[in-house]
Amino acid sequence: MTTRRTWQRCDDCGHEVDELDRSPRCPVCQGLLAVVHAMPARDGLRARLAANRSPSGVWRFGELVLPTAVDVAVSHPEGNTPLLERAALSAWCGVDGLLLKHEGHNPTGSFKDRGMTVGMTQAKRIGATAVACASTGNTSASLAAYAAQAGIPALAIVPDGQVTIGKLSQTLAYGARTLLVDGDFDDCLRLMQQVSVELGVYLLNSINPFRLEGQKTIVLELLQQCDWNAPDWIVLPAGNLGNTSAFGKAIDEAMAWRLIDRRPRLAAVQAEGAGPFAAAFSRGFDQLTPVHAETIATAIKIGAPASYHRAARAIVATDGVVLTVSDAEILAAKVAIDRAGVGCEPASAAAVAGVRKLRADGTIGRHDRVVAVLTGHILKDPGVLQQIHQNDSIAPALANRPIRIPADIAAVRDVLSSSGERQT
Ligand code: F0G
Repeated sequence: MTTRRTWQRCDDCGHEVDELDRSPRCPVCQGLLAVVHAMPARDGLRARLAANRSPSGVWRFGELVLPTAVDVAVSHPEGNTPLLERAALSAWCGVDGLLLKHEGHNPTGSFKDRGMTVGMTQAKRIGATAVACASTGNTSASLAAYAAQAGIPALAIVPDGQVTIGKLSQTLAYGARTLLVDGDFDDCLRLMQQVSVELGVYLLNSINPFRLEGQKTIVLELLQQCDWNAPDWIVLPAGNLGNTSAFGKAIDEAMAWRLIDRRPRLAAVQAEGAGPFAAAFSRGFDQLTPVHAETIATAIKIGAPASYHRAARAIVATDGVVLTVSDAEILAAKVAIDRAGVGCEPASAAAVAGVRKLRADGTIGRHDRVVAVLTGHILKDPGVLQQIHQNDSIAPALANRPIRIPADIAAVRDVLSSSGERQT
């Protein structure tokens, strides 16, 4: 008998199914399934990871992600994102040496590609004839790109009028059949779960456990970049809570596999108008009370997160915190990140707004080692950039307005002298 390396287990009842079982949820109790791995050989693990030459920042960690699929991966490649340090942003947050893990550097511009390469690989292995997701835009863009590469038809269900132009355009351009639903993301997710059960398409939302295996590598890669010397805090934006869950699993496993010897604390940041996870945290995680979500950060405009229980476990296990930031705080953080030459979409800026707030209330210390995760690229949301910087700005104090002039050197000279800039 061969020893099994990877299988799936229900979070709620512990029922186990085969690695290649395609059920979207536990067939016994409908709980969420998680991927479980046999313990890898711990001796020399760090050295093996360092020596792995895969061009993908996900499949370099293949033995910890999906060992049986490394040779058949649908990979762009993805991952290998930078860990940036910018003095202006450390100063803005009041944290010395703040590090930014910029997931906007992935092929479709968000961290979703890390999960999608694994999810799409699994879809191919089980012979899925179609793949689908509900999305606020980044998952659908990523789904569409990886499905095109795998040659599998893709279906995206998104809320009409609530997906940014960058994300909707990508989803269409990469060829996904795209349905605009009269409703919000929570309506789309409900509909999608029904579609996956009744129409038999393979669901690639973040309740798909293989997606989370890929997203774990955000943490594994940043820990490797820190020479396995865990930071004090990892701060991330939170919506449907797949990523918070994946981070919790990565930290648990990194401890079990002795890659690190202490747990970083997780701080999950939600938008004030879309903060059911933060509300539950403040009540000791008694239960999730869904809300009608409203925020300028459309990526995390989610009122009934699907992975609540496993994300709550991740916060408790890491002695973490959950907080909200206002849209004004998100915009201010975004402008600071953009002006530092880094750039990100609004949801990502929530992480940095969160660092500043946690520093201000003393939860994070000035000398704590903090990594904030920027989840998406600045060009994901060109609409909000126009709203900030052009006429009738939604944040006049932050606007860098373009100046219209005639094609005339005198006009350029006038502008430069009035803004105090000098020609050399
Ligand atoms: N940041 C960005 C840029 C996102 O697109 C998302 C989620 C999150 C943060 C939150 O991650 O849902 O795992 O808690 N976007 C999903 C989507 C919902 O459909 O693209 P989460």
